[in-house]
Amino acid sequence: MAKNIQAIRGMHDVLPDQTPHWQFLENRVRDVLGRYGYQEIRMPIVEFTELFKRSIGEVTDIVEKEMYTFEDRNGDSLTLRPEGTAGCVRAALEHGLLHNQTQRLWYQGPMFRHERPQKGRYRQFHQIGVETFGMPGPDIDAEIIAMTARLWRELGIEGLELQLNTLGTSEERARYREELVRYFSAHAERLDEDSRRRLRSNPLRILDTKNPEMAELVQGAPVLEAYLGEDSRRHFEQLREMLDAMGVPHVLNPRLVRGLDYYSLTVFEWVTDELGAQGTVCAGGRYDGLVAQLGGRPTPAVGFAMGVERLMALLEAKARLPDARRADVYLVLMGERAQREGLVLAERLRDALPRLRILTHCGGGGFKAQFKRADRSGAQLAVVLGEDELENNQAGVKFLREERPQESIPLVELADYLSDVFDR
Ligand code: HAM
Repeated sequence: MAKNIQAIRGMHDVLPDQTPHWQFLENRVRDVLGRYGYQEIRMPIVEFTELFKRSIGEVTDIVEKEMYTFEDRNGDSLTLRPEGTAGCVRAALEHGLLHNQTQRLWYQGPMFRHERPQKGRYRQFHQIGVETFGMPGPDIDAEIIAMTARLWRELGIEGLELQLNTLGTSEERARYREELVRYFSAHAERLDEDSRRRLRSNPLRILDTKNPEMAELVQGAPVLEAYLGEDSRRHFEQLREMLDAMGVPHVLNPRLVRGLDYYSLTVFEWVTDELGAQGTVCAGGRYDGLVAQLGGRPTPAVGFAMGVERLMALLEAKARLPDARRADVYLVLMGERAQREGLVLAERLRDALPRLRILTHCGGGGFKAQFKRADRSGAQLAVVLGEDELENNQAGVKFLREERPQESIPLVELADYLSDVFDR
């Protein structure tokens, strides 16, 4: 026998018993975003590689070692999107959405990163992302953060911590960077291999190291705060005041630097300690330089993306989620005539009762086998149609989840009867 082909490592199917949970999350999120005036945008999954290099940064982990990059038949270098911000800015620029106007946009879909798979970290994963343009903040920073806090409330997710930092402007960061290089160079012998490499290319990322042997060194490093100018400080203070006023608790994390190069000023992450090492469920920040970097006019921007798989893991552990019940009513059809007339009856019922989920038994088979399927479908009741019932223009009704005597209902009254039972 031929060997089964399996899914690619780190890429997962979402199975029918999980999709109701995904839809629950997606529907709630879509609802909340709509209430804040966000509009959905859908971008291609594949973009020119150059887009990600220019936006995420050449010397980030994502661009250096995690992208799914390939040449297409024309010889163009293309990449499966590792995130949504770059494509969203590209699309907004391309279609003139940024000219003299503000935008509040959102998107959802799969992203691809060739990381080492583990719990909460996959090679194909899903984000729901938000990007806003044309608003210099800090009001919009505060609003999108409050919106994420509302999302957790309305999804029933508790215990997330909001971590906040400011990265200053690119000029401020450049001065800080010089200072960091000076500090770490003076302690070069204590740097691990990764950090030594980053020392020249991306020294801020050294602060993000997970290596416990470097914790002390990092602890003693200069902090960006000291290099912030007056405007950056005020932006951050005002943001914090607004969050306080809206009752959104947050903690400062001066080591929060993010893994993508486009950020400036505000950065934030929502983290949980319930998912092991991959505890960030939502992350983002301001990226005022990116639009110009991709060829547009200077445009302030701020956004975030949440990891759907990580939120799902929290939801499934905690919240009450809709189950995978497929049907309300199951039509048991005995014999050839019932099979044919059952289809017609089901159509009539669907016309009359558009809110009921009606599953007909297809494929024939005995009474017992059909009832087994009826039971598995999750239906509340079975409508039974056989030769005798058809002869009398009736259907049998058998309740599958409660002790109730079987009834015979005239076919013409069946829709009203079901409407009463289900109150729909
Ligand atoms: P990010 O921090 O790279 O930011 O990803 C955002 C979220 O996506 C993470 O917090 C995490 O929940 C989820 N995520 C990332 N990688 C994986 C993975 N391999 N497996 C499972 N989940 C993952 C961005 O992507 C930015 N574009 C966010 C943003 C939007 N900033 C401004 N606007």
